[in-house]
Amino acid sequence: MNSMNKILSTVILLGFILLCGCNTQPSPIRSGELWPDNNGEHINAHGGGVMYHDGTYYWFGENKCDTTSSAMVGVMCYSSQNLTDWKNEGVALAVEDNDSSDITRGCILERPKVVYNAKTGKFVMWMHIDSYNYSKAATGVAVSDSPTGGFKYLHSLRPYGEESRDMTLFKDGDGKAYHVYSAKGNSTLYIHLLSDDYLEHTETYKAVFPGKFREAPAIFKRQDKYYMITSGCSGWDPNEAEYAIADSMLGEWTAMGNPCVGENADRTFGGQSTHVITVDPENDKYIAMFDKWNKLDLINSRYIWLPVQFHSADSITIEWKDEWSLNDL
Ligand code: DGJ
Repeated sequence: MNSMNKILSTVILLGFILLCGCNTQPSPIRSGELWPDNNGEHINAHGGGVMYHDGTYYWFGENKCDTTSSAMVGVMCYSSQNLTDWKNEGVALAVEDNDSSDITRGCILERPKVVYNAKTGKFVMWMHIDSYNYSKAATGVAVSDSPTGGFKYLHSLRPYGEESRDMTLFKDGDGKAYHVYSAKGNSTLYIHLLSDDYLEHTETYKAVFPGKFREAPAIFKRQDKYYMITSGCSGWDPNEAEYAIADSMLGEWTAMGNPCVGENADRTFGGQSTHVITVDPENDKYIAMFDKWNKLDLINSRYIWLPVQFHSADSITIEWKDEWSLNDL
C-alpha cells in the first residue's frame, strides 16, 4: 500500500469510527409527541410501567382502542436496550373471549405493572380489573416464566374485601414487594405488603392520606428515602400532581406538594403519573412517566417522560422539556 492509500484508508476508518460513535448518541425523548415502535406505530402501552431485567427494559401497558376505554386486546409489552427505541413484543396478557372471565374482552383492565420474583423465578403482573362502570373495583394477578409473556391470569380479588382501583407495584431492595392502590371510593391509598411469591396480600398494610382522594400512584426509592407521586381524581382530565416522602414503605408518608414546576405545572403538563423508572440510582437518574390521555381517542394518548431533579433528600422537581436525551439526565 503506498502512502496515499494508507492516508485514505486511515481517513475512511476514522470516519467510520466517528459515524458509529454518532449512532450511539441516545435518541431524543419528545413528550406529548407520537412515539413510534420498531414497526413505526405509536407505542400502545398506556397507564404502564417499565421493568428492568437482565440488561433489557420492558414496558408494559394498556392496549387502548380508539372507540372505547374497555380492554379489547390486553396488556402490551415492548422491549428496549436504551429506553428510547422500543420493539413491540406483542400481547403479554390477552383478554379472554369468555363472558364469565374477569378479563373478558370489553372489561376494564388498567395500570398493569410487572415485577420479577427472584425466589420463584416468575414475572408477576398486577392490574386494576373493573366492570364498565368501575363498580367492581378489584385487582388482578397474572404470572409468566418469561417477561414478554404469555402471562397466565390467576384471579382477581378485592384485598381483604377492600376496593382497589388505580394501582402500582413497588419492589424494594430487600425483595419485598408492595401493592399500592386507591381504596374506599378512591379516598384513601393503601400500601399493602405482598406474600413472598408476590401472588397475594399479607395482613400487613398501611392506609395513607385518608380523605385526600389521590390516585395514579408511582413509587421510587432514592438512597434511603421513598417517594410517591400521585394525581388527584378527575377521570381522564389532568389535575395537579403531588409527591410524598417516607423513610419506609409502611411508615409515615409526608405530603410535599406539587413536584411539577413551570408553565402548566398545576395540570401536570396535561399528564397523569403512572411510573418512575430508576435508571441509575447512584447518579440520581430517574425518569417520571406520565400519561397524556386523549379521552375521545384513547389510542392516541401520548406519553410524557421527564427527568426527576433532586435538590435535597426531601425536595424534588419535575420540569417540562420539549426535547431531551438520556445524556441530560
Ligand atoms: C383515572 C385513572 O387514573 C385512569 O387510570 C382511569 O381509570 C380513568 N380515571 C378513567 O376515568
